[in-house]
Amino acid sequence: MNKIKVLVTGGCGFIGSHVIHKLLDYDSYKKIVNLDLLTYSGHPENCGDITDKRYKFVYGSINNKGLLTKIIEEEDIDVIFHLAAESHVDRSIDSIEPFISTNIDGTRCILEVIVEMNNNHKNIKLIHISTDEVYGSLNKDDKPFNENSQISPRNPYAATKAASDHLVLSFVNTFNIDAVITRCSNNYGPRQFPEKLIPLMIMKMMNDENLPIYGDGKQIRDWIHVEDHVDGIIAVGEALDKGIVSPGEVINFGGDNEKTNLEIVDKILQLFGNTESKIEHIKDRLGHDRRYAIDSNKAKNILRWYPKIKWEDGLRNTLKWYIDNTDWAKSITSGEYRNWINKHYN
Ligand SMILES: NC(=O)c1ccc[n+]([C@@H]2O[C@H](COP(=O)([O-])OP(=O)(O)OC[C@H]3O[C@@H](n4cnc5c(N)ncnc54)[C@H](O)[C@@H]3O)[C@@H](O)[C@H]2O)c1
Repeated sequence: MNKIKVLVTGGCGFIGSHVIHKLLDYDSYKKIVNLDLLTYSGHPENCGDITDKRYKFVYGSINNKGLLTKIIEEEDIDVIFHLAAESHVDRSIDSIEPFISTNIDGTRCILEVIVEMNNNHKNIKLIHISTDEVYGSLNKDDKPFNENSQISPRNPYAATKAASDHLVLSFVNTFNIDAVITRCSNNYGPRQFPEKLIPLMIMKMMNDENLPIYGDGKQIRDWIHVEDHVDGIIAVGEALDKGIVSPGEVINFGGDNEKTNLEIVDKILQLFGNTESKIEHIKDRLGHDRRYAIDSNKAKNILRWYPKIKWEDGLRNTLKWYIDNTDWAKSITSGEYRNWINKHYN
């Protein structure tokens, strides 16, 4: 495929915005349409500075099949990178309904539209972005999850992502669609919504506030820089196109970088040089998984993909980004970005 026309769902979110910026670096992408509903985690500024004529923003929901059909037909879309989601575990514990609606039913809409388009002589490729959380939790000495590990989600967010993964695989088998699933560990980097651990801690430190850590803080996650994840996602799209990966395959991405939450916060404190903010242990998250770790050997072998960004460098440049972009962060904490969205889109 020479000139690829892409639909990115959730392109105003954290990872989606990096996908869009990265795709624009390649001449082979002729059109990049970003479909985003601008929910609380979608910030218009995340793609607001793009002037490239190949880029187009469409405000709307993946749950709107009519809109999806219109975009795919009018823009002649070849590939969908599907990142739109409700993505925060804590929110799924408070209320699962939006997670079922977006993560499961929204994915169902995309799948049904792909089948309808394919019946109409299209051949849409789907890269479905999922998470290591679908595999459940590991004990300290367990081997990292690989693509054959059992699906065993343990929180409502992970359950809805697992359900959407199952839907994708069922559509590959039943309707012969060209879809692959990527499952990645915890991402960090610029533009992550400040409810997630790293930006939350950075913002608290910027305000000299205490740093709330769930339970004993010894929960382990495998951290990967968002740009490494995005390189992997794009490599999967190209590999599917070239037949290097087949429909129905799953590919894991991780950073080979397991850290406890406490280690992370200590490191940020050290890089920040902050002496005012103190760690404050708070009541643990309900059902909090102890450890995630990912084996990315398949991606390394098949795609020749490796996580390139070193943890300390990545963390330092993330910290710098939040310090240099206080307006972005302030517009979120003050709610100003919602006012802008409501004025322009609601
Ligand atoms: N952040 C991580 O560490 C991580 C790790 C592995 C996988 N993932 C997966 O990657 C994807 C993106 O995660 P993220 O961290 O960028 O999330 P995010 O919350 O930052 O962004 C989600 C985006 O989706 C949009 N959105 C939500 N509902 C929508 C709808 N109905 N229609 C259109 N747009 C909608 C939001 O406005 C937002 O821009 C998710 O599928 C998530 O499960 C995330």
